[in-house]
Amino acid sequence: MTAVFPLHRTTRPTPAPDRDAILADPGFGTHFTDHMASATWTPDAGWHGHRIGPVTPYTLHPGAAVLHYAQEVFEGLKAYRHADGSVWLFRPEINAARFARSARRLSLPEVSEAEFLASVEELVRADEAWVPAFGGEQSLYLRPFMFASETFLGVRPAHRVEYSVIACPAGMYFSSGSGVTLWISTTFTRAAAGGTGEAKCGGNYAASLAAQTEAHEHGCDQVLYVDGVEHEWLEESGTMNVCLVTSDGELVTPPLGTILEGVTRDSVLALAGEHGLTAVQRPVSVTELRERCADGSVTEVFAAGTAAVITPIVGFKGADLDVRVGGGAPGKTTLALREHILDLQYGRVADTRGWLRRV
Ligand code: COI
Repeated sequence: MTAVFPLHRTTRPTPAPDRDAILADPGFGTHFTDHMASATWTPDAGWHGHRIGPVTPYTLHPGAAVLHYAQEVFEGLKAYRHADGSVWLFRPEINAARFARSARRLSLPEVSEAEFLASVEELVRADEAWVPAFGGEQSLYLRPFMFASETFLGVRPAHRVEYSVIACPAGMYFSSGSGVTLWISTTFTRAAAGGTGEAKCGGNYAASLAAQTEAHEHGCDQVLYVDGVEHEWLEESGTMNVCLVTSDGELVTPPLGTILEGVTRDSVLALAGEHGLTAVQRPVSVTELRERCADGSVTEVFAAGTAAVITPIVGFKGADLDVRVGGGAPGKTTLALREHILDLQYGRVADTRGWLRRV
């Protein structure tokens, strides 16, 4: 079969001992593989110039639209090594669909599902040696993205767009496995109805940095956003969705609308029944969180995201709250769901839902 993204292999790959040293302790987002996928879009030619080539810096005119108006979207997904050495993606079709929705919201051209999957798979094949070994909690994190590269300062959709996929071996996103504390910000709002909250665009993350700093200043690991109107309804944490487990057997998470439709969020909702839980998507207020953490009827809280997998939340501060959840330790259900997702991703249990895609 002809590759959609033909491979132009680097003549200067990372020496194997250097690569192995990185794989021994990859961290998150600091070490990159040897290749990248790329394609360019223009109104006349559509997507063209598809290739996998050596990781190469862009040359951008200082007037490139993305540098001024942040017309950019991205995705995050991972490739997992199984015990037999094979490499798999987890529900990449959902990332492809979300990437297309994000592109539409930012007036960028869509990458088809076939092109998205080909770019990711062909990059993983080219850099297969960078996929960490089976047995730990490491994976190859893939970052598809596109941005307005046209040199133009007028505000309109760009006439030149670059699409790329880069990859980095990744360990745990949070170094502490024992849970994180969230800061409920009433100063900063992530999104409002009609805004870009559902899109995975760089601007959302740039705007989250001040809220993140506020969280750190209050001794918390991450921010938890509430709605921008009443400052009362839980949204998401900025890099993760948030889920509550209740003593009457519900797995509750805020509804879609202004939050990111997470792949891990969706997977957890689908798996809830197997853990004796009823999945419920409904608004959750700060008042409910305060009262139910205090009376013990919210027994566990966790965050869900591709990078963070499932991360226990052990406490909240801000918005007149200073509560511990579940005695400040990760809950049983949280850890079971986390293990379940990881078992599926690493092929340690049967994939009865067809969620895995072999590279
Ligand atoms: C992800 O979980 O893949 C994300 O995109 C979150 C983050 C690292 C920005």
